[in-house]
Amino acid sequence: MQTIIEKIIYPGKSLSRQDGKVVLVDAGIPGETVEIQIDREKKNYCEASLLNVIQASAHRATPRCSHYKVCSPYQYIQYPRQVEIKKEQLEEMFLHALKKELPPILMRPSPLAWEYRNKIRLQVIHKDGKAAAAYHIPGSHNKFMPVDNCRLVSAQVNSLIGYFLEELDKQKIRDINEFIIRENPDTAEMLLLCYGSGRKPPLSLSELKEKALLTGIIYVNKQTNAQICISGKNEITQQVREATFSYGAESFFQVNLKTLELLIEDIQDIAAFSDGQKLADLYCGVGTFAILFAPFVREVNAVEAAPENMFYLKKNMRDNSRRNIALRQGSCEQWIGKLLKETPDIIIADPPRSGLNNQIISELCRNPAGNLIYISCNPATLVRDLKPLLNTYTITHIYAYDFFPQTPHIETMVSLKSK
Ligand SMILES: C[S@@+](CC[C@H](N)C(=O)[O-])C[C@H]1O[C@@H](n2cnc3c(N)ncnc32)[C@H](O)[C@@H]1O
Repeated sequence: MQTIIEKIIYPGKSLSRQDGKVVLVDAGIPGETVEIQIDREKKNYCEASLLNVIQASAHRATPRCSHYKVCSPYQYIQYPRQVEIKKEQLEEMFLHALKKELPPILMRPSPLAWEYRNKIRLQVIHKDGKAAAAYHIPGSHNKFMPVDNCRLVSAQVNSLIGYFLEELDKQKIRDINEFIIRENPDTAEMLLLCYGSGRKPPLSLSELKEKALLTGIIYVNKQTNAQICISGKNEITQQVREATFSYGAESFFQVNLKTLELLIEDIQDIAAFSDGQKLADLYCGVGTFAILFAPFVREVNAVEAAPENMFYLKKNMRDNSRRNIALRQGSCEQWIGKLLKETPDIIIADPPRSGLNNQIISELCRNPAGNLIYISCNPATLVRDLKPLLNTYTITHIYAYDFFPQTPHIETMVSLKSK
């Protein structure tokens, strides 16, 4: 049957209607006429497969990666249209959840639409006796999609993947099943961490250092989780503005540095930091915001739960001579009451995808800060959390950052003022 695609809803299904009923299909673009086949009838909607594009949108693009459906399914849409679609999705989600007029959403596209990622994590599978890199097929533990060339990371990361797999075959190493590569795109240094089941680290992998600019090679035994440095260092450094950050292969660090620059610039404009102010950086990771903004305020309280991130936060404070940051190791739930009693002027909260929990939200409403800057990588939990926060705060700015071009992910920054 034929249908016309009306819109793409977050996180990426194309929506059309048949006899008033919603039909969800993959890989359509608004305005396109497509041929579909209904696969499943649910109470309020149908799921369908796209059989054929009858009248293609001018925004349709040829995907660059053979495996794109698994990790970057928007590759079939030209980049500028991806950004518009994300804006439309956010507008709809804000309006639906909050039902009030809000400031306009300002979009910040990624300066790089390709080769923007400084991190990749892949599985190792064996195909016809040869090692290959792969992604898990979403929803499955034992089905994989081979990855030949990933266009979201640099050419040199792809070369390192090739050398690494060759080396696994050459040395007959069969018990490494996953790896992470982190890259400093400015210096071309890379860090390789591989996970395996063998008790002994594969020391001979150090030969890879002759083929690529590797700052270090690390092995993690999956049973013990112990990290063993096979060669070089177990960390990588990255300059962001005037600060140098060190972080480990498993640490949290923003993956799209060019878009991160835009976020930093906007926070600085909105917050208008001044000498006497107190800043609280909740969910601070290795200290990206705490370290960058500390010189502009009186003091920073930085809260982080993961020990590895906290380790690098301390190192980054020393290396950048930041003496006005108080470290709060542990969960935000554990620290929030105490922190709010210290009356921060500005709070930056950048939680994981699950968002803020009820305890944090009620504390933020009970003892509001003058300016709350909520950075979210999940618009669904963001709008859920804004609903109760709006009893105490008003939204002044909404910015959306495309940290993840070619994917449905949306990063949003909402600045709130206490009423
Ligand atoms: C999205 S990252 C933000 C990191 C940082 N703002 C940055 O830009 O580099 C979220 C961070 O929150 C930390 N985290 C997760 N749950 C937490 C909790 N309940 N309390 C404190 N930190 C938490 C994670 O370890 C991670 O470093």
